[in-house]
Amino acid sequence: MAKTTTSEADRAEQGLGYAVNGPYYDVIFPAAVRASLTDALRRLVSGSRAIAEIGPGTGVFTETLLELLGPDGEIFAIEPTRIMRTALVTRLSRIPAAAHTVTVLPEDALTAEVDLPLDAVVLFNMIMHFPPEQRIRLWRRWAAALRPGGLLITESQHPQTATAVPPSVIPGGTLGRHRYDTLARADVVGEDLIRWAMTYRTWRGEKLIREETAKFDCHVVSDEALAAELSAVGLERHPAAPEGIQAWRRPPCSPTAPATERPAANAPSTPPRR
Ligand SMILES: C[S@@+](CC[C@H](N)C(=O)[O-])C[C@H]1O[C@@H](n2cnc3c(N)ncnc32)[C@H](O)[C@@H]1O
Repeated sequence: MAKTTTSEADRAEQGLGYAVNGPYYDVIFPAAVRASLTDALRRLVSGSRAIAEIGPGTGVFTETLLELLGPDGEIFAIEPTRIMRTALVTRLSRIPAAAHTVTVLPEDALTAEVDLPLDAVVLFNMIMHFPPEQRIRLWRRWAAALRPGGLLITESQHPQTATAVPPSVIPGGTLGRHRYDTLARADVVGEDLIRWAMTYRTWRGEKLIREETAKFDCHVVSDEALAAELSAVGLERHPAAPEGIQAWRRPPCSPTAPATERPAANAPSTPPRR
């Protein structure tokens, strides 16, 4: 029988993973990571006409993408996990520019459809959720959705090999009387598979008043493996990708992909690839 992986969207419905992480997400997001990924977007996608953001979560980077969009630009935010999508839609509802610009799709990365060629596909902090066989479909699908010259953008993964990561504390922010941080560690649980245990802690002064742990099984993909996979779908490395950023370009002169490889780009009736 084929081995199936439970999606993070389904795990969250069971109270696991993002159901635990969601209420903390924005306040524990590391400021340095936010700054460097925002800077990368500024350099790579400013003035874009059409962007798909896959797994936008609560919309930390959707907001930046909105600012960077060119005139008449459009964003497709593909977020299958209900609790994250709730935060995303709440955030976007308060931004007037989003009203006619950002379409939120509740499907996942392997089923969502867009109907125009994309300048950029952004996948931040999420490719670890895809096992190797799904990554092949992921890359094929979204490489084909790019216009010639369009960019697929993700970040280099940590760790680069399946190794245990010792516990460390990642400082977060404060809200009123409470301060938040994350105790993070990972164990190796399979071939190229690690299990992160993220304990979200709430402090009042020096007193720990709450802690909740979310576990995520994450597929390890090295820069080398990523390069092989993205080259295999016809993408080429962007010559000026910022440090720590994987930016891959559809060659400017590449032919239009066959309809079967596109997530319905220019062919709204194409059934989704599974
Ligand atoms: C760690 S969060 C990253 C959120 C955002 N990109 C950021 O960097 O702040 C990972 C997100 O990927 C989403 N995700 C997981 N599996 C997905 C899939 N198969 N398709 C689309 N999104 C998925 C999760 O629901 C979650 O919101």
